[in-house]
Amino acid sequence: MQNMQNVDQVEECLGVLRAKLGFAAETQYPVGLILGTGLGQVAGDLEQSAVAFSELPHFPVSRASSHAGFLAATRLSGVPVLVQSGRCHLFEGFSPAEICMGVRVMHGMGVHTLVVTNAAGALNPDFEVDRLFLICDQINLTGVSPLTGINHEAWGVRFPDMSQVFDCHLRTLAQKTAINLGIALERGTYVGIHGPELETPAETRLYRALGGDAIGMSSVLEVICAKHLGMRILGFSCLTNKNLPDCMVEVAIEDIIASSQRAAKDLARLLLSLLPDLADKLAKD
Ligand code: HPA
Repeated sequence: MQNMQNVDQVEECLGVLRAKLGFAAETQYPVGLILGTGLGQVAGDLEQSAVAFSELPHFPVSRASSHAGFLAATRLSGVPVLVQSGRCHLFEGFSPAEICMGVRVMHGMGVHTLVVTNAAGALNPDFEVDRLFLICDQINLTGVSPLTGINHEAWGVRFPDMSQVFDCHLRTLAQKTAINLGIALERGTYVGIHGPELETPAETRLYRALGGDAIGMSSVLEVICAKHLGMRILGFSCLTNKNLPDCMVEVAIEDIIASSQRAAKDLARLLLSLLPDLADKLAKD
């Protein structure tokens, strides 16, 4: 039987992470941040205080060069934040449990609010490339779930409610903050696919007809996992390319990374401004 709720492995990984973080492990980390493709610089230079994925038991190590691959305990805008720089994907052959290791470890370190970031293709024809996108809802088209197998009740319920996954209050706050900072912020539904192949024109038409505004190969499983754990979730994509079914253009991974790096500055400004409110679970706008 497949079991994606790998309690023992998460505990083992947590133990090693705490030991490696030393004094830093005594702090409570209210906020977790996962940085996707091309977004490594959003949290600044963290390499010094980082624990590489490869040093942590059961933590998957990506072979994608655009993903640095470490966990770091830091302070941003005065808030203790656990940063996961880089992630693994289903298309690399990793399981949903491996992909969600970071989220479950963050939960064990006290994280109650998770920010996921990624690079995505725009499906909505009104969107512009290089802009940021606020994920308001998601469609998991990967065909798998990190909750498969025996449910670990201490993590969450067997059938988690998904009627509001991306926290409404935090989304409003993100929109207001973006306006104040003069940052354009698109919003809508993110479609998560398995990959690694990009979409054909017919698939693009289908995903748009299903209600998707942006599409990518990450974050939907992390989000399901975080929701199961009862976390508040906020999600941002960098719109790195635009997929119009009637005039598809070729997309190269180098262009996706470059676009994401261009949007990273705005994402950093937005996050640094939002962080104090993210840390306070009871803050209202
Ligand atoms: N499709 C899927 N994943 C992506 C894309 C895309 O167009 N752009 C960045 N990640």
